[in-house]
Parts: sequence; C-alpha cells; structure tokens
Amino acid sequence: MMNCIRYCEETATFYLNTAHTSYAFCINELGAPEHLYYGARIPSDDLRHIRNKHVYSFVPYAGRGLECVSPDVFFQELPVANCGDFRSIALSLVDGNGKYGARMRYASHILREGRLSLPDLPYSRGIGAESLEVTLKGETKEIEIKLHYVVYPACDVIARYTEIINCGKKEIHLQKAASLSLDLYGHEWELIETYGTYQYERAAVQRTPLKYGTSGSFSHKGASGHQGNPFMAVCRPEACEDTGEVYGFNLIYSGNYENSAEVDALGNTRIITGISDYQFDFAIPAGERFFTPEAVMVYSDCGIGGMSRAFHDFVRRQIIPPSFVNRHRPVVLNTWEGCYFDVNEQKILALADGAIAAGAELLVLDDGWFRTDDNENLGDWQTDFKRFPHGLGWLSDRLHEKGLGFGLWFEPEMINSKSRLYGERPEWVVCSGDGCYLSRNQLVLDMGNPVVVDYLFERICACLSGVKIEYLKWDMNRYISEAGTSCGTQGSFFHRYIKGVYRLLRRVSEKFPALLIETCAGGGGRFDLGMLYYSPQIWTSDNTDPYTRNAIQLGTSLAYPNSAISSHVTHNVGTGLNGSMRFRYVTASFGVYGYELDAGILSEEERDMLLGFTREQKEIEPLVLDGDLYRLLDNGKFAAWALVSKDRSRAVFSFVQLRYNAMDKTCVVRIKGLDEAALYRSSGDGKLYRGGVLAHLGIRIEDLPGNTGKAVQILFERVEEE
Ligand code: DGJ
Repeated sequence: MMNCIRYCEETATFYLNTAHTSYAFCINELGAPEHLYYGARIPSDDLRHIRNKHVYSFVPYAGRGLECVSPDVFFQELPVANCGDFRSIALSLVDGNGKYGARMRYASHILREGRLSLPDLPYSRGIGAESLEVTLKGETKEIEIKLHYVVYPACDVIARYTEIINCGKKEIHLQKAASLSLDLYGHEWELIETYGTYQYERAAVQRTPLKYGTSGSFSHKGASGHQGNPFMAVCRPEACEDTGEVYGFNLIYSGNYENSAEVDALGNTRIITGISDYQFDFAIPAGERFFTPEAVMVYSDCGIGGMSRAFHDFVRRQIIPPSFVNRHRPVVLNTWEGCYFDVNEQKILALADGAIAAGAELLVLDDGWFRTDDNENLGDWQTDFKRFPHGLGWLSDRLHEKGLGFGLWFEPEMINSKSRLYGERPEWVVCSGDGCYLSRNQLVLDMGNPVVVDYLFERICACLSGVKIEYLKWDMNRYISEAGTSCGTQGSFFHRYIKGVYRLLRRVSEKFPALLIETCAGGGGRFDLGMLYYSPQIWTSDNTDPYTRNAIQLGTSLAYPNSAISSHVTHNVGTGLNGSMRFRYVTASFGVYGYELDAGILSEEERDMLLGFTREQKEIEPLVLDGDLYRLLDNGKFAAWALVSKDRSRAVFSFVQLRYNAMDKTCVVRIKGLDEAALYRSSGDGKLYRGGVLAHLGIRIEDLPGNTGKAVQILFERVEEE
C-alpha cells in the first residue's frame, strides 16, 4: 500500500509526503514537471494557484495562448540548458546531431514500494521507502529522461537522481548532469556551508545571506576534499539551532561536486547539487544510459539541529553498511600518531600490552608495514619482512592470543615512483602527458581503468589472506592535479575514477563482509555519503588537538552522525595545543572512540587513566551510535552537546572550555532533548532533575577561571517516580 506518494490525475500533480514534510509538482501546459512546493507537511490539495504566470519583457514563452507560461519563470524540476530557462541549469546535453538541449515532456510515471538500485554508485538503501519514476521524452524521441524520487517517510528525507537514456542511434554527450534542482520561493535565505582545510576540515561553518546571483562550493580535485563538502543548507535568517526553517542538501558521491544557490531576477532561489561540470563531457553511446549520483534533501522547521538529526537518522539507517547499524565499534589503538613509520614486530607486541591495559580492543597497524618512509613502495603491497619477519598472519595471531583484534592500513589508489609497480606499469598512473606534480611523494593510479582495480583487488586479497583481520583503514593522501588517462575519454575521467574506487570498495566489502572499513583521506579529506556507504566511520581529521577538534567535529556533525566521526585520544595532537587528557577524552568521546599513542611507553598511572576513559566511553557508546545529537553551545569559548537515547531514558551531556576569559567565572548550559516531564538522576552530583528544568533553566558549570580546557561529562538516567 503506497502511503507517501500520490498522483492526482485531475490536477496532474504528484504529492510526496514524509512524516513532517510535503513535496509537490505538477505537469504543466508544456508537459514540463513544474515544482509547486517543498516544506512543512500540508494537505495534498490543488496547489496550482501558487504558479507564477507573471511574465515580463525578455522572458521566452511557448507561443500564442501560452504567453504566461515561461520556462524562465516557472519552477522547474529539471532545468535543461538551451530550453528557455536562463537560470542555473541541472542538465546540459548535446544530442546525436550536435543539437544542444532537448525540451522534455512528461510521458508516464511509475510508483513503487521500495526503490530501484543505482548501478555502480552508492545510493540510499530504500528501507521503508517508496519511490516515483517520472519518464520524460524529447521531441525526437532519441532522448528519454527519468526523474527518480525516493521518499523516506520516517526520517523526512527525499532522495533524487536522474537517468538519461540514449534511445537514438548516435552518441549523445552530457556536459552537465546535476542530481537535484530545487526552486524555493523568495530569497530571504541564508546559506550554510562547512569549509576548511587539512587539519581544519569542516570547522569553518559559514552562514551568509544569499545574494542576487550565485553562491556555492565545489571540488575539482577528484575527491570531495578538505576544503568544501557536498553538504549545504539554506535557512531562514531567524533560524537557529532549535527553531526555524532549514533545508539541507547532500550528495551520495565522493568525487568532484558542485553546489550552488542562485537568487534570480524575480527574487527566487534555485538550489543545484550534483557532479561538477569541470572537465565533464560524458558520452552516452546509442542504447546506453547514464545515472547521476543520488542527492538527498531534508526540510526541518526545528532549526539546524532538526536538520542534523534527520540527516543522522538517514545516514545511520539508509547509508552505512547494514551490518554496522547500531553495532559496537571496537576501541582501537592505532599506531600512527604514536609511532609514525617506526613500526616493527617487537614494537607492535609491546604496544599490544599497553593497548590492552588501556582497554583497547583492536590494534591498527597504520602506514609503515611495507615501507620506512613515504617515498617508496606504495602500489606494491608487499609486507616489509625485515620489520615483520614472521609476516602479518603470525603477528595477528599473537595479537588475537592476547585478546586484541587486528587492523591494517592501505592506500589503494596511490603509487610511489620508487616501487616495483611503477617500473612495470607506468601507464597506470594518472598523467596529463606533461609529467605529473608530486604530492606527498606520490602519484595517483588510474582507478577508471578496470585492470588497475583488478590488480589492487588481487593485492589486497593477497595481503589479507591467512591474516585474521577485523578492520581496514582505507587512506587517500593526495588529489588529482593533472587528470589524464590512457583508458577512456578525458571528459569522463573524474567520474570513472571515483566509480573505480567504489568498485574496489564493493569488491573488498563483498569478499570480507565482516571487515570494518574506516575510510580516511589525509585526515578528513573525503568525508561524504559516498564513502559512508562502504565504511560506517571515517577518520575525521589528523588534528586531534581538543581545542580545534571540537570545531571540526561540530562542523562535521551538521550533516554526519556521531557514529561516523572517528575520533582518537592522542599524544601528538598535531598543533601542540594539548589540553588535559580528560579534555581529549571528552572531545574524542563525541564520536567513534579510540587511541593513537605509543602505548608501549605509558606509565601505570596513565594506563589506568585511559582504562577509566575506555570504561566511561563504553557506557555511552549506545548514545554515540544511535542517540539524537543536541548541539548546546558552540561560541568559541565553550562547546557543549548532549546525546539523547531515542526513548529519552538516557543522555550524556558533554562540556568543554575552549578559551579562558576572566569574565566567565561559571557557565550555565541548558540541556535539551530530554523528556521535560520525566525525572533524571545526574551522575555529576547524584541529584534528581526534571527534564524541563534541565531544558529551560539548565545546570551550572563551576570553576572556570584559569581552568582552560575544563571538560565535564555527565550521564542523565531517567528514574521512575514513586
Ligand atoms: C594520513 C592519515 O590521516 C593518518 O591517520 C595516517 O594514516 C597517515 N596518512 C599515514 O600515512
């Protein structure tokens, strides 16, 4: 029984409803899908009175009798280039005869329970979803376009992608193929984006009023990148964390993307999300089809926090590998920050004892198991037997005997020129022909070439065969600076590259279904929904300094759940701004928790302290995996957040002081998200507080002066009243 999607024949209107939102569009006089509404849930009435039929000088119209229907004025579901819409477009194509654009008209539609799959790309999993497929046809019938909508009623998310089919006899070319276009009434919106750089990923949260013209962000690097992120949002000027209207957008894609928000001459706003058109010219041979990546959108009238919580539920249930939903993630001890390249068998075994004493459950052998510095051997994937004379299988067995799991670092997409592979297969390197710039002493392998993917799959399998292994860290430490390929066309290079990465991730996941893959890109340079489809958690940043790390994590949490945010307590924080160990613990406990330090040199006191942290973290892990996040404070001086269980019976409240200010002797924080009528016992002072008191009056954090880096964590558990 279809509950969410409905078509009204009389008004030719499609209605897509989630628990709290509605989306509607009609088929207009031109046969075009005309957008009518997206926002808070409303009745599925005739909404066409809202259509804008006010045309003015210079706008094109379809002819006599249709003077008031202009493709440059009405709200479009699919704006195509060269078809009368001068605003930002979603699709640009050249047909088999060299003609630009194609006027597309409604032909038919299908409603489905569940959804269709998206070939070779990650996509939302369709659990409890309904979907709609609207087929549009061009005049010449050579091009067919299907608009796909997938509706997730429970988490208020609607996903969209477009399928372009070449039904003709000649090749057609796509020059832009965005996934989502959404027209919003008015321009009184503010744009929210996360910006950053290496060691500051998504920490610069920017909120700016939209201007006439275009704003937005993009990546041309071959990866979503450290700087921008495919997530963006627009909100009302008065919207804040807890109230107000917010639309959030994201893309299930890890390659070049482009997001834009254009305010047009009539003062309306168009959002476009999708693959970047940078060097994009994708040929579709006769009889074949192209699928855009899937974009997702959410509307919330419960502020930025409401948008984040909807996205979090969506990512946790519809994106990450199903076997990791709500599943315990091992507390790892990763060798990188503690040892860097200085790893060997003896050292790992010594580390293992420290790791166990600190409560870690799995030891990750990071970079260094096949090389001594970053200058050599990437691409060969051969263990360095000088350092690991008994091999990795033997080492893993010893770790398991001690009660520790084992994890290993890879960077499959990369190659050092000082490697056996480079000598044998120089043509596998991404190169524009002019030679290539190095970055971190390395070059990039052409993942768009299926033979390269086959080779890497074989090498990864060879390394893992006979090794008891539970975890794999999948790193990527440079961008593509000169795209060039000896396989396939230049215009399809970037898209084929990332599809090759996905193919390899899929093959490895299928071959080792129990393996927990944590992705990484020089810290958090590829933190996106595409990666999360294969890896339930991502290394968030190489910066673990708790002062900065909180900004990185809070920025990341706008779109991504705590359960995806991998976070470690380290000795080397990257910036020298260490803070106390407790400060580092509270910070790391925001996400998937672990350690990255030389556990072999820990004093007994330090081991006990870490063991205490691990135990505290285990108490709150269910909240990290599935709790509702409330960002309570983030003002540069203090950060505070709460994670509240779905049944509101438990919550963990965390507070950190980021900057000393003599005027702040104490600080009052209001803790939201609890059941206002219920009583909770605080693990801080043991007293009982009602949820409403915590939400509206709050609690007082004492002893701030001079105590920069004060870190507090309190558990609230509901108690039954007598
Ligand atoms: C970059 C990652 O972010 C680090 O955690 C570490 O794995 C290094 N690469 C290893 O080269």
